[in-house]
Amino acid sequence: MVSAILVAGLAYGLGNPQSEVMLLGAATGALVLGMVYFIINYFIYRKIKKIYKTICSTKAIVGSEGSYLLNEDPIGQVYDEVQQWSKEQTSKKEEADQLEKYRKDFLGNVSHELKTPIFNIQGYIHTLLDGAMDDPEASLNFLKKAARSADRMEALVKDLLIISELESGSVKMDWENFDLQELLQDVFDSVDHKARQRSIQIQVKAGCRAPFMVRADRKKIRQVLVNLLSNSIYYGNDHGLTQVGVYDMDRQFLVEISDNGLGIDAEHLSRLFERFYRVDKGRSRSEGGTGLGLAIVKHMLEVHGQTIHVRSSVGVGSTFGFTLDKPNA
Ligand SMILES: Nc1ncnc2c1ncn2[C@@H]1O[C@H](COP(=O)(O)OP(=O)(O)O)[C@@H](O)[C@H]1O
Ligand SMILES: [Mg+2]
Repeated sequence: MVSAILVAGLAYGLGNPQSEVMLLGAATGALVLGMVYFIINYFIYRKIKKIYKTICSTKAIVGSEGSYLLNEDPIGQVYDEVQQWSKEQTSKKEEADQLEKYRKDFLGNVSHELKTPIFNIQGYIHTLLDGAMDDPEASLNFLKKAARSADRMEALVKDLLIISELESGSVKMDWENFDLQELLQDVFDSVDHKARQRSIQIQVKAGCRAPFMVRADRKKIRQVLVNLLSNSIYYGNDHGLTQVGVYDMDRQFLVEISDNGLGIDAEHLSRLFERFYRVDKGRSRSEGGTGLGLAIVKHMLEVHGQTIHVRSSVGVGSTFGFTLDKPNA
């Protein structure tokens, strides 16, 4: 551009000797313009390029020299990149804030859950030491209560260990083919005592009694079934009924656990699988749930690539359902 102005100026000057002054002016102007252009291009552009290179290397992108090339509009390009970078940092910060909140909530919940049984045990022991020990009946009563609180603490710590393993992402899967029907009988036996205490009957639905071969981690699915059946007892009515249905769905089996207990209001359904979420906080604590049962169920099914759903109606009952793959699915 500068040389074009110079050539035009010279041509005009040569053709018209009276305009020597103008020619000189034009030449000086063009020279100044040229110098400015050169300074911008050489120094500022090089500086921007250097800054840009630094940004690229701090972003730790393994790239070739080519990735440091700027286009015709270096300022615009750097501006866009900085905008993009700032957006990424904002979303990273939001993520970090969310994690921090999650961590704080979790710690708060764990402390709160542990506080109750610890205070109870402390109370019973002090009462015994303060004289109740002399009364054999009172002693037995307080010791039984202290033992229940200790069991609650153990259950909570066990569930916390399970959930932290599941959430760490390093969970080991022990895949095997097994008969779900057999596993159900085993789980029925293990919750039988609890069910009897409330006269709740647990059975496999009529028509769902064939062997059902599935491919899964047996121990984990056992835990899923224990948690769901325990809930159907905790939140069932005395003399109630819990039924397990297994349905053939081509490449999978659908397992449904239904009770005719308290039921759950629709407003709670979406939060039911969150850690420590309880519909009726007072009741569930006194009944002994850790508040982690359904969160564990959800995680355990997710590591199988499966999901869980729930239907419920207050006063009618609840149905929890999940799928399991057949072998070779
Ligand atoms: N079968 C059910 N019927 C009614 N409510 C249920 C049932 N299963 C779970 N819930 C509700 O979901 C909440 C969360 O369950 P869970 O994660 O197992 O914790 P916990 O049983 O220890 O309270 C329970 O506190 C209860 O309010
Ligand atoms: Mg539970």
